[in-house]
Amino acid sequence: MELLKQRIQEEGKVLNDQVLKVDSFLNHQVDPLLMMEIGEAFRERFKHEGITKIVTLESSGISPSVTAGLAMGVKVIFARKRKSLTLTDGLATSKVYSFTKEEWSEISLSSEFLSPDDRVLIIDDFLANGQAGLGLIDIVEQTGAQVAGIGIVIEKGFQSGREILQSKGVRVESLARVQSLQNGRVTFYKETGVHA
Ligand code: G4P
Repeated sequence: MELLKQRIQEEGKVLNDQVLKVDSFLNHQVDPLLMMEIGEAFRERFKHEGITKIVTLESSGISPSVTAGLAMGVKVIFARKRKSLTLTDGLATSKVYSFTKEEWSEISLSSEFLSPDDRVLIIDDFLANGQAGLGLIDIVEQTGAQVAGIGIVIEKGFQSGREILQSKGVRVESLARVQSLQNGRVTFYKETGVHA
């Protein structure tokens, strides 16, 4: 997605050769117009998948998921990272390890919003080592729903996330695929096919 790559080049800060900071439009301040374009890009990529629900993880996954839900006409469920006072019944839960933070966390969602008839698109802001994606696949499948694909806003292609998620047999689509963050510069993989 050219517009997204352009915004990453203009506003992204390379903190080191592993971490890209995009607080000006995705992880802290949110740019709603860019998010609308991102939602439309996800709709285009998954339009033949019969998506009935979107599942994401709080907090930065929520804005691109809501615009994708708007574009696709489906509801959005965000898994929680913290225990909720009101979220207690019929919980699907999974443990997620963050290599970045070196800690385990438990993510959960209420199974009342998913059924075995659902075809779910999982959306997240970043793909690094795929651990959040694995946890989301796990909780969606616990409800009996089917994972139809994973949509990522920014993939760090030099980390192992894509291989890990694809090894689960899941289709992975990212809107911007970073090849390297070395020498303080962001370089992207050359796209082939219709989604250049
Ligand atoms: P993984 O799920 O792919 O294995 O990712 P990892 O544990 O390494 O990442 C933990 C958190 O850091 C996630 O956000 C993830 O989106 C984010 N992250 C990973 N790499 C980068 C990066 O290069 N840049 C930025 N900006 N974020 C990165 P989170 O803690 O769940 O944050 P939030 O959703 O509450 O904002």
